[in-house]
Amino acid sequence: MIGLLHPGQMGAAIGAQLTGAGHEVLWCRAGRGARTAHRAADAGLRGVDTLAELLACPVLISVCPPAAAEDVAREVAEAGFAGVYVDANAISPHRMIRIGGLFETVVDGSIIGPPPNADRDARLYLSGPDAAVDLVSELFTDSAAKAISLGPRIGDASALKMAYGSYNKASHALAAVSHALAERHGVGAALRAEAAEDSGGALGKLNRLPSVAARAWRWGPELREAAESFAAAGLPPDLASAAAEVFRRWDADKDDTNLDVAEALRHLHADD
Ligand SMILES: NC(=O)c1ccc[n+]([C@@H]2O[C@H](COP(=O)([O-])OP(=O)(O)OC[C@H]3O[C@@H](n4cnc5c(N)ncnc54)[C@H](OP(=O)(O)O)[C@@H]3O)[C@@H](O)[C@H]2O)c1
Repeated sequence: MIGLLHPGQMGAAIGAQLTGAGHEVLWCRAGRGARTAHRAADAGLRGVDTLAELLACPVLISVCPPAAAEDVAREVAEAGFAGVYVDANAISPHRMIRIGGLFETVVDGSIIGPPPNADRDARLYLSGPDAAVDLVSELFTDSAAKAISLGPRIGDASALKMAYGSYNKASHALAAVSHALAERHGVGAALRAEAAEDSGGALGKLNRLPSVAARAWRWGPELREAAESFAAAGLPPDLASAAAEVFRRWDADKDDTNLDVAEALRHLHADD
């Protein structure tokens, strides 16, 4: 029996990998909305009404918005959870170390890649005490969530996610403001033509920007976590902070699946 907090896009996909591997997965309905309930049902998860009902699970996995990760962990710790707590969120190594201090046994996790399914894998990086990392890795054997151990240090899996995620997400922010500037000056088509020459870069992935805008409410806090991680490592935090500021301009587009490219670019302008 495994507890999952919460079945968002990624959490439900991770839960489905676990149920697919034959595990019973519980999630907690308290405070969550209809879309989470639908995803949980589709993933074959069993809902319970209170957090207390998850405490008997030997392993609890947190996959929630990074901005909520520490509050979720504190709530679980205060409820008296005594099993293995896995925080798989995009948070800074320092926040992860603080979360580690709340539990007897904790595993630092981070997920890189899209929500896993039959057609595509995601990597679940893990760091922490060997026995706990092995226990969690075994849960995902033969699943599309590929568990990879990074060693015993809490904070290392989070650091990898901050390093990878900030590059990946900030590149979309930079591409977005470049296209918005070019459009404002009437040279958008010329920039798109130049970007097409570099098919691998974010500048050439203009059509992805509406879905980036819809996720910006979650990516902004993640980049602020990354900025703190860079500062703590003596590196310039400004690129990550600036990308977070770009994403803040898309806050009102949260989860909007009907946005088009022109509208997404327009919303970046302060005078929109
Ligand atoms: N999606 C991806 O492609 C992806 C890729 C790599 C890593 N990740 C990581 O996976 C984690 C979750 O991402 P996601 O895509 O699953 O997010 P998501 O689809 O937005 O889902 C978040 C889940 O957490 C719940 N939630 C919302 N606000 C909360 C709060 N204040 N406190 C506690 N729970 C809350 C939501 O429930 P309600 O909406 O019902 O309230 C939902 O079930 C993040 O750390 C992210 O960085 C995601």
